[in-house]
Amino acid sequence: MANILYLIAAVCFIFSLKGLSSAESSRNGNICGICGMALACVATYVKIDPACLSINPWFTISAVVIGGAIGILIAKNVSMTSLPQMIAGFHTLVGMAAVLIAFSVYCAPKLFGIMSLDDEISTLSLAEMCIGTAIGAITFSGSMVAFLKLQGVYKGHKVPLPLNAFLLSSIVCLIVHFVISQRCDAFLLVTIFSFIFGATLIMPIGGADMPVVVSMLNSYSGWAASGIGFTLHNDLLIITGALVGSSGAILSYIMCKGMNRSLIEVIFSSGYENLQAASASSEIKPFKKGSPEDAAFVLKNASSVIVVPGYGMATSQAQHALKEMVDLLKKQNVNVKYAIHPVAGRMPGHMNVLLAEANVPYEDVFELDEINRDFASCDVAYVIGANDVTNPAAKKNQSSPIYGMPILDVEKAKSILFLKRSMGAGYAGIDNELFYAQNTMMLLGDAKKMTEAIAKAM
Ligand code: TAP
Repeated sequence: MANILYLIAAVCFIFSLKGLSSAESSRNGNICGICGMALACVATYVKIDPACLSINPWFTISAVVIGGAIGILIAKNVSMTSLPQMIAGFHTLVGMAAVLIAFSVYCAPKLFGIMSLDDEISTLSLAEMCIGTAIGAITFSGSMVAFLKLQGVYKGHKVPLPLNAFLLSSIVCLIVHFVISQRCDAFLLVTIFSFIFGATLIMPIGGADMPVVVSMLNSYSGWAASGIGFTLHNDLLIITGALVGSSGAILSYIMCKGMNRSLIEVIFSSGYENLQAASASSEIKPFKKGSPEDAAFVLKNASSVIVVPGYGMATSQAQHALKEMVDLLKKQNVNVKYAIHPVAGRMPGHMNVLLAEANVPYEDVFELDEINRDFASCDVAYVIGANDVTNPAAKKNQSSPIYGMPILDVEKAKSILFLKRSMGAGYAGIDNELFYAQNTMMLLGDAKKMTEAIAKAM
């Protein structure tokens, strides 16, 4: 019975991931995931104690109720911009759970049924347990550092590469030593070294690379759970861990590809931040500056507009003002679409979430591949708080740090309205030649206030 429930739960998780891959189906995906998790909890309980004789059910029920209440409270109160640190915070729990389970199994192997006939823990179980602990400890301390960085509490430190190389090789040697000797001190040392390695691995990574790191840690937490699943002979934990591990790894890859960087570059360089001083141009070039009234005039005379949102829209929370302005344009029969770059903002799906929050219809929102050829025939590109994702240097300048990154072909629009506070650079720290183009009007100011002013002028 429990195994059948496990199978149904695993299918629910697969459907959940499928549902979460698009905004329209994400609610159903989420519900599917919740049902799968509820089934998994019931099945595990039934499997361990079918007659409810040895475990007081109220312990389990109160744990679920208290944990669930805390989860709901956090999710209800977290702001959209704090989602990455919330996820990093939750990963610390997965990592710690893996460490604690592995220790429980090591201390009471009989209870978990992993003793061989000659009353010893099998070599395979020892290896699984130890690797699970190591990954769990790395996930815990790495996620903790990521949380502190994203929360702005900790800025980070440089860590010499040889130190990390030493820690990693020590962990590997200690795991081998533990599997051969079964010594408790080796197991403890693996855990301690892994806690330290998790922190030193994440400490030097640039703040803006944190979304990739969070997704990578998500992947680690999945592999840790999978490792523990093997130790406990729990098929559902193996399947779920593998789903989380592989989806996290794929997401990290997609983010790196969207930024035209490799995961190795993200982990071993301190981000684009080093480049900023070198690349940002100090030269003052002429550009066209406009007022909200100028922008309102241009927009009212357009028949098609493509909105390109970016990180600045998220920081100024301009999505509601934007929706109101677009509604005004639509009333005047202007055709308005939204173009979303895969790495616009600072986390996957950042712009989609903000636009959904402002009730922008899904059918108006297009991915890069779907909309890029429409720029050539559109009257106005309304770039709100985006910068790097529109920078033509990605296509032309081989020495640019974003060279090779796919970009939105904003430069092909008849007119470009650029909303940002200054002529400063974006995440990649480089100048954008579009600011100085003949068909560009710079609207300098906070994205929300400027959009409200344009709507008022319209
Ligand atoms: P950016 O290139 O970072 O540009 C954002 C622009 O918004 C800045 O130039 C800034 O200019 C402006 N801005 C900031 N606050 C503003 C406000 N309150 N009002 C108006 N403008 C404001 O953003 P993007 O175009 O969205 O590109 C994303 C970048 O992040 C890419 O380089 C990408 O590789 C990187 N990245 C993305 C992710 C994911 S998964 N999305 C993860 C890591 C890194 P001012 O300061 O002049 O206002």
